Amino acid sequence: MRPLALLRLAVAALIVGSGLFAPLASPSPARGVGPLPDCRLDDILTEPRGYDDWEITHVDWILTLGPRYRPPDLVSVREGGVAGGGLIREVVIEDLKAMAAAARANGTPLVSWSPFRGYRQQVSLFNGYAGWNGERYTNFDSAITFSARPGHSEHQTGLTIDFVAVGDTGLTSNWEVTRTGGWMARNAWKYGWLMSYPKGKTDVTCYGYEPWHYRYVGREMAAKIHESGLTIREYLWANHTQLDPACVALPAPELKTPGEPRSCAFAEPSPTAMPASAPPTPGFSPVATAAGTPTSTAGPAATSPPTSPAGSFMGIELQAAIGIALVVALLAGLLAWNRTRRRSRSGW
Ligand code: DAL
Ligand code: ZN
Repeated sequence: MRPLALLRLAVAALIVGSGLFAPLASPSPARGVGPLPDCRLDDILTEPRGYDDWEITHVDWILTLGPRYRPPDLVSVREGGVAGGGLIREVVIEDLKAMAAAARANGTPLVSWSPFRGYRQQVSLFNGYAGWNGERYTNFDSAITFSARPGHSEHQTGLTIDFVAVGDTGLTSNWEVTRTGGWMARNAWKYGWLMSYPKGKTDVTCYGYEPWHYRYVGREMAAKIHESGLTIREYLWANHTQLDPACVALPAPELKTPGEPRSCAFAEPSPTAMPASAPPTPGFSPVATAAGTPTSTAGPAATSPPTSPAGSFMGIELQAAIGIALVVALLAGLLAWNRTRRRSRSGW
Protein backbone atom coordinates (compact mmCIF):
# COMPACT_ATOMS: atom_id res chain seq x y z
CA MET A 1 0.00 0.00 0.00
CA ARG A 2 1.28 3.48 -0.85
CA PRO A 3 2.10 5.78 2.07
CA LEU A 4 -0.59 8.24 0.99
CA ALA A 5 -3.25 5.52 0.90
CA LEU A 6 -2.08 4.27 4.29
CA LEU A 7 -2.32 7.78 5.70
CA ARG A 8 -5.86 8.16 4.34
CA LEU A 9 -6.85 4.85 5.90
CA ALA A 10 -5.35 5.86 9.25
CA VAL A 11 -7.19 9.20 9.23
CA ALA A 12 -10.44 7.41 8.34
CA ALA A 13 -9.90 4.93 11.19
CA LEU A 14 -9.30 7.77 13.63
CA ILE A 15 -12.42 9.63 12.51
CA VAL A 16 -14.57 6.50 12.78
CA GLY A 17 -12.96 5.60 16.11
CA SER A 18 -13.43 9.02 17.66
CA GLY A 19 -17.00 9.22 16.36
CA LEU A 20 -17.80 5.88 17.94
CA PHE A 21 -16.15 6.45 21.26
CA ALA A 22 -16.07 10.17 21.96
CA PRO A 23 -19.56 10.19 23.49
CA LEU A 24 -18.42 7.55 25.94
CA ALA A 25 -15.50 9.65 27.07
CA SER A 26 -17.38 12.92 27.61
CA PRO A 27 -19.34 13.66 30.79
CA SER A 28 -23.07 13.06 30.77
CA PRO A 29 -25.01 16.28 30.30
CA ALA A 30 -26.58 17.79 33.39
CA ARG A 31 -30.23 16.85 33.70
CA GLY A 32 -32.48 18.53 36.19
CA VAL A 33 -35.25 16.48 37.68
CA GLY A 34 -38.06 18.81 36.68
CA PRO A 35 -40.73 20.21 38.97
CA LEU A 36 -39.77 21.01 42.53
CA PRO A 37 -40.82 18.15 44.79
CA ASP A 38 -43.01 18.98 47.76
CA CYS A 39 -41.47 19.15 51.21
CA ARG A 40 -41.39 15.53 52.27
CA LEU A 41 -38.88 13.49 54.22
CA ASP A 42 -36.75 11.15 52.20
CA ASP A 43 -33.16 9.93 52.12
CA ILE A 44 -32.05 10.10 48.50
CA LEU A 45 -28.34 10.49 47.81
CA THR A 46 -27.94 13.84 46.12
CA GLU A 47 -26.44 13.99 42.64
CA PRO A 48 -24.00 15.40 41.86
CA ARG A 49 -22.00 15.29 45.07
CA GLY A 50 -18.38 15.04 43.98
CA TYR A 51 -16.23 17.41 46.00
CA ASP A 52 -15.56 19.38 42.81
CA ASP A 53 -19.29 19.78 42.20
CA TRP A 54 -19.64 22.04 45.23
CA GLU A 55 -21.39 24.87 43.34
CA ILE A 56 -24.39 22.71 42.49
CA THR A 57 -24.49 20.11 45.25
CA HIS A 58 -27.83 20.38 46.96
CA VAL A 59 -29.37 19.04 50.16
CA ASP A 60 -32.84 19.47 51.59
CA TRP A 61 -35.53 17.41 53.35
CA ILE A 62 -35.27 14.85 50.55
CA LEU A 63 -31.64 14.89 49.43
CA THR A 64 -28.76 13.72 51.60
CA LEU A 65 -24.99 13.80 51.34
CA GLY A 66 -24.79 10.52 53.23
CA PRO A 67 -22.71 9.90 56.34
CA ARG A 68 -19.28 9.71 54.70
CA TYR A 69 -19.35 13.09 52.98
CA ARG A 70 -16.65 15.27 54.48
CA PRO A 71 -14.88 17.80 52.24
CA PRO A 72 -11.14 17.21 52.06
CA ASP A 73 -10.12 20.89 52.05
CA LEU A 74 -11.49 22.21 55.34
CA VAL A 75 -9.57 25.12 56.86
CA SER A 76 -10.17 27.54 59.72
CA VAL A 77 -12.83 30.21 59.03
CA ARG A 78 -10.30 32.72 60.33
CA GLU A 79 -8.40 32.31 57.05
CA GLY A 80 -11.45 34.01 55.53
CA GLY A 81 -11.04 37.05 57.76
CA VAL A 82 -14.00 36.45 60.05
CA ALA A 83 -13.92 36.03 63.80
CA GLY A 84 -15.28 32.93 65.50
CA GLY A 85 -14.26 29.33 65.33
CA GLY A 86 -14.70 26.31 63.15
CA LEU A 87 -13.91 25.08 59.70
CA ILE A 88 -14.94 25.92 56.16
CA ARG A 89 -13.90 24.70 52.71
CA GLU A 90 -10.83 26.28 51.22
CA VAL A 91 -12.82 27.04 48.04
CA VAL A 92 -14.78 29.76 49.85
CA ILE A 93 -11.82 31.55 51.40
CA GLU A 94 -11.06 34.12 48.72
CA ASP A 95 -14.65 35.36 48.50
CA LEU A 96 -15.18 35.09 52.25
CA LYS A 97 -12.15 37.31 52.72
CA ALA A 98 -13.51 39.86 50.24
CA MET A 99 -16.95 39.84 51.87
CA ALA A 100 -15.51 40.10 55.39
CA ALA A 101 -13.33 43.05 54.33
CA ALA A 102 -16.30 44.84 52.75
CA ALA A 103 -18.44 44.21 55.83
CA ARG A 104 -15.64 45.54 58.05
CA ALA A 105 -15.28 48.63 55.88
CA ASN A 106 -19.02 49.18 56.36
CA GLY A 107 -18.53 49.11 60.13
CA THR A 108 -20.37 45.78 60.44
CA PRO A 109 -17.74 43.04 60.86
CA LEU A 110 -18.85 39.44 60.56
CA VAL A 111 -18.50 36.65 63.08
CA SER A 112 -18.88 32.96 62.26
CA TRP A 113 -21.27 31.29 64.70
CA SER A 114 -21.59 27.88 63.09
CA PRO A 115 -19.68 26.89 59.94
CA PHE A 116 -18.94 23.27 58.87
CA ARG A 117 -20.74 20.57 60.85
CA GLY A 118 -19.87 16.94 60.30
CA TYR A 119 -22.47 14.19 60.10
CA ARG A 120 -22.10 13.04 63.68
CA GLN A 121 -22.23 16.57 64.98
CA GLN A 122 -25.56 16.98 63.20
CA VAL A 123 -26.74 13.70 64.78
CA SER A 124 -26.13 15.16 68.23
CA LEU A 125 -27.67 18.49 67.34
CA PHE A 126 -30.79 17.04 65.72
CA ASN A 127 -31.31 14.46 68.45
CA GLY A 128 -31.17 17.29 70.97
CA TYR A 129 -33.71 19.44 69.15
CA ALA A 130 -35.98 16.52 68.29
CA GLY A 131 -35.94 15.15 71.82
CA TRP A 132 -34.58 11.65 71.29
CA ASN A 133 -35.38 9.82 74.51
CA GLY A 134 -33.66 6.57 73.74
CA GLU A 135 -36.66 5.07 72.00
CA ARG A 136 -38.31 7.77 69.97
CA TYR A 137 -38.36 11.46 69.22
CA THR A 138 -40.65 13.58 71.34
CA ASN A 139 -40.30 16.78 69.31
CA PHE A 140 -39.56 15.63 65.75
CA ASP A 141 -42.25 17.59 63.90
CA SER A 142 -41.12 20.88 65.35
CA ALA A 143 -37.36 20.17 65.06
CA ILE A 144 -37.55 19.33 61.38
CA THR A 145 -38.80 22.85 60.59
CA PHE A 146 -35.53 24.45 61.75
CA SER A 147 -32.90 21.70 61.97
CA ALA A 148 -31.72 19.39 59.24
CA ARG A 149 -31.53 15.66 59.83
CA PRO A 150 -27.96 14.31 59.64
CA GLY A 151 -26.77 14.14 56.04
CA HIS A 152 -29.27 16.82 55.02
CA SER A 153 -27.57 19.93 56.39
CA GLU A 154 -25.91 22.49 54.15
CA HIS A 155 -23.40 22.86 56.97
CA GLN A 156 -22.06 19.39 56.07
CA THR A 157 -21.09 20.72 52.63
CA GLY A 158 -18.48 22.95 54.29
CA LEU A 159 -19.91 25.86 52.27
CA THR A 160 -22.28 27.32 54.83
CA ILE A 161 -21.92 29.68 57.78
CA ASP A 162 -24.42 30.95 60.33
CA PHE A 163 -23.20 34.54 60.80
CA VAL A 164 -23.68 36.88 63.74
CA ALA A 165 -22.44 40.39 64.53
CA VAL A 166 -19.70 41.21 67.03
CA GLY A 167 -21.13 40.93 70.52
CA ASP A 168 -24.17 38.83 69.55
CA THR A 169 -24.89 36.01 71.97
CA GLY A 170 -26.96 33.92 69.60
CA LEU A 171 -28.92 33.70 66.36
CA THR A 172 -31.95 35.94 66.23
CA SER A 173 -34.87 36.07 63.83
CA ASN A 174 -34.62 39.88 63.53
CA TRP A 175 -31.02 39.71 62.27
CA GLU A 176 -31.96 40.93 58.80
CA VAL A 177 -33.13 44.26 60.25
CA THR A 178 -29.90 44.79 62.20
CA ARG A 179 -27.06 46.71 60.54
CA THR A 180 -24.89 43.65 60.03
CA GLY A 181 -27.71 41.32 58.96
CA GLY A 182 -29.12 43.99 56.66
CA TRP A 183 -25.76 44.53 55.00
CA MET A 184 -25.49 40.77 54.42
CA ALA A 185 -29.01 40.54 52.98
CA ARG A 186 -28.18 43.29 50.46
CA ASN A 187 -24.59 42.37 49.61
CA ALA A 188 -23.67 38.76 50.33
CA TRP A 189 -24.73 37.52 46.87
CA LYS A 190 -22.12 39.77 45.25
CA TYR A 191 -19.47 37.65 46.97
CA GLY A 192 -21.07 34.29 46.12
CA TRP A 193 -23.16 33.82 49.30
CA LEU A 194 -26.93 33.39 49.43
CA MET A 195 -29.45 33.24 52.27
CA SER A 196 -30.78 29.71 51.89
CA TYR A 197 -34.01 30.10 53.85
CA PRO A 198 -35.48 33.56 53.26
CA LYS A 199 -38.61 34.96 54.86
CA GLY A 200 -41.92 33.72 53.47
CA LYS A 201 -40.37 30.85 51.52
CA THR A 202 -41.01 27.95 53.85
CA ASP A 203 -43.33 26.29 51.35
CA VAL A 204 -40.40 25.88 48.92
CA THR A 205 -37.38 25.65 51.22
CA CYS A 206 -39.16 23.45 53.81
CA TYR A 207 -37.43 25.34 56.66
CA GLY A 208 -38.46 28.41 58.59
CA TYR A 209 -36.81 31.80 58.05
CA GLU A 210 -33.06 31.79 58.87
CA PRO A 211 -31.63 35.26 58.15
CA TRP A 212 -28.21 34.21 59.48
CA HIS A 213 -27.71 31.07 57.35
CA TYR A 214 -25.66 31.71 54.19
CA ARG A 215 -24.54 29.12 51.64
CA TYR A 216 -21.64 29.77 49.29
CA VAL A 217 -22.28 28.82 45.65
CA GLY A 218 -19.60 30.98 44.00
CA ARG A 219 -20.07 34.44 42.49
CA GLU A 220 -21.32 33.32 39.09
CA MET A 221 -23.97 30.95 40.42
CA ALA A 222 -24.99 33.38 43.16
CA ALA A 223 -25.57 36.13 40.60
CA LYS A 224 -27.73 33.81 38.50
CA ILE A 225 -29.80 32.65 41.46
CA HIS A 226 -30.12 36.19 42.83
CA GLU A 227 -31.32 37.42 39.43
CA SER A 228 -33.79 34.54 39.10
CA GLY A 229 -35.53 35.54 42.33
CA LEU A 230 -35.63 31.86 43.25
CA THR A 231 -34.31 30.19 46.37
CA ILE A 232 -31.25 27.96 46.11
CA ARG A 233 -33.49 24.90 46.43
CA GLU A 234 -35.79 25.92 43.58
CA TYR A 235 -32.91 26.90 41.31
CA LEU A 236 -30.76 23.82 41.85
CA TRP A 237 -33.64 21.33 41.54
CA ALA A 238 -34.68 23.01 38.28
CA ASN A 239 -31.25 23.32 36.73
CA HIS A 240 -28.60 21.12 38.25
CA THR A 241 -29.85 18.28 40.38
CA GLN A 242 -29.38 15.07 38.40
CA LEU A 243 -31.82 12.44 39.55
CA ASP A 244 -34.23 10.02 37.95
CA PRO A 245 -37.66 11.67 38.41
CA ALA A 246 -39.47 8.32 38.44
CA CYS A 247 -37.26 7.15 41.30
CA VAL A 248 -37.65 10.44 43.19
CA ALA A 249 -41.42 10.13 42.91
CA LEU A 250 -41.50 6.73 44.64
CA PRO A 251 -43.19 6.85 48.02
CA ALA A 252 -40.68 7.59 50.75
CA PRO A 253 -40.30 5.17 53.60
CA GLU A 254 -41.04 6.27 57.16
CA LEU A 255 -37.87 8.12 58.01
CA LYS A 256 -38.04 9.20 61.56
CA THR A 257 -35.20 6.78 62.24
CA PRO A 258 -33.47 6.70 58.88
CA GLY A 259 -31.63 3.73 57.51
CA GLU A 260 -29.47 3.59 54.41
CA PRO A 261 -29.94 6.41 51.92
CA ARG A 262 -31.22 5.25 48.55
CA SER A 263 -29.79 6.15 45.18
CA CYS A 264 -31.91 7.70 42.44
CA ALA A 265 -29.01 8.32 40.09
CA PHE A 266 -29.66 7.92 36.40
CA ALA A 267 -28.55 4.53 35.07
CA GLU A 268 -25.56 6.25 33.51
CA PRO A 269 -24.13 7.95 36.58
CA SER A 270 -22.66 11.40 36.70
CA PRO A 271 -18.89 11.05 36.20
CA THR A 272 -18.21 12.76 39.48
CA ALA A 273 -20.77 10.92 41.57
CA MET A 274 -19.62 9.04 44.63
CA PRO A 275 -20.49 5.36 44.92
CA ALA A 276 -24.14 4.90 45.79
CA SER A 277 -23.51 2.22 48.36
CA ALA A 278 -23.34 3.83 51.75
CA PRO A 279 -21.04 2.63 54.48
CA PRO A 280 -22.32 1.49 57.82
CA THR A 281 -24.19 4.46 59.23
CA PRO A 282 -22.34 5.84 62.22
CA GLY A 283 -25.07 8.28 63.10
CA PHE A 284 -28.55 8.23 64.41
CA SER A 285 -27.35 6.52 67.44
CA PRO A 286 -29.48 8.00 70.15
CA VAL A 287 -26.93 10.48 71.44
CA ALA A 288 -28.94 13.41 72.61
CA THR A 289 -27.03 16.52 73.62
CA ALA A 290 -28.11 19.93 74.72
CA ALA A 291 -30.04 21.57 71.94
CA GLY A 292 -28.81 24.76 70.41
CA THR A 293 -25.18 24.35 71.32
CA PRO A 294 -23.22 26.91 69.31
CA THR A 295 -20.97 24.91 67.12
CA SER A 296 -17.66 25.52 65.87
CA THR A 297 -15.23 22.81 65.42
CA ALA A 298 -14.50 19.94 63.20
CA GLY A 299 -16.95 17.13 62.97
CA PRO A 300 -16.03 13.48 63.14
CA ALA A 301 -13.14 11.97 61.35
CA ALA A 302 -15.35 10.26 58.82
CA THR A 303 -13.23 10.56 55.74
CA SER A 304 -14.92 10.40 52.39
CA PRO A 305 -13.20 8.63 49.58
CA PRO A 306 -12.02 10.73 46.66
CA THR A 307 -14.62 10.60 43.98
CA SER A 308 -13.87 8.69 40.85
CA PRO A 309 -16.16 7.36 38.17
CA ALA A 310 -16.85 3.68 38.29
CA GLY A 311 -15.32 1.74 35.39
CA SER A 312 -12.55 4.16 34.57
CA PHE A 313 -8.94 3.67 33.56
CA MET A 314 -6.46 6.47 34.26
CA GLY A 315 -9.36 8.90 34.39
CA ILE A 316 -10.79 7.74 31.04
CA GLU A 317 -14.11 5.90 30.84
CA LEU A 318 -13.39 2.21 30.37
CA GLN A 319 -15.34 1.89 27.11
CA ALA A 320 -13.55 4.91 25.68
CA ALA A 321 -10.20 3.41 26.69
CA ILE A 322 -11.11 0.17 24.87
CA GLY A 323 -12.07 2.22 21.81
CA ILE A 324 -8.79 4.07 21.79
CA ALA A 325 -6.89 0.79 22.22
CA LEU A 326 -8.77 -0.72 19.25
CA VAL A 327 -7.92 2.23 17.01
CA VAL A 328 -4.25 2.06 18.03
CA ALA A 329 -4.18 -1.71 17.40
CA LEU A 330 -5.75 -1.21 13.98
CA LEU A 331 -3.14 1.37 13.02
CA ALA A 332 -0.30 -0.82 14.28
CA GLY A 333 -1.67 -3.77 12.26
CA LEU A 334 -1.88 -1.67 9.12
CA LEU A 335 1.68 -0.44 9.53
CA ALA A 336 2.99 -3.97 10.11
CA TRP A 337 1.08 -5.31 7.14
CA ASN A 338 2.40 -2.55 4.89
CA ARG A 339 5.97 -3.12 6.05
CA THR A 340 5.69 -6.87 5.34
CA ARG A 341 4.38 -6.18 1.84
CA ARG A 342 7.23 -3.78 1.11
CA ARG A 343 9.79 -6.24 2.44
CA SER A 344 8.41 -9.10 0.35
CA ARG A 345 8.48 -6.82 -2.71
CA SER A 346 12.11 -5.96 -2.08
CA GLY A 347 13.01 -9.68 -1.63
CA TRP A 348 13.52 -9.84 2.26
N1 DAL B 1 -30.79 24.98 60.35
C1 DAL B 1 -30.50 24.37 59.10
C2 DAL B 1 -31.74 23.97 58.38
C3 DAL B 1 -29.58 23.19 59.30
O1 DAL B 1 -29.70 22.51 60.33
O2 DAL B 1 -28.79 22.92 58.42
ZN1 ZN C 1 -27.29 27.30 59.49
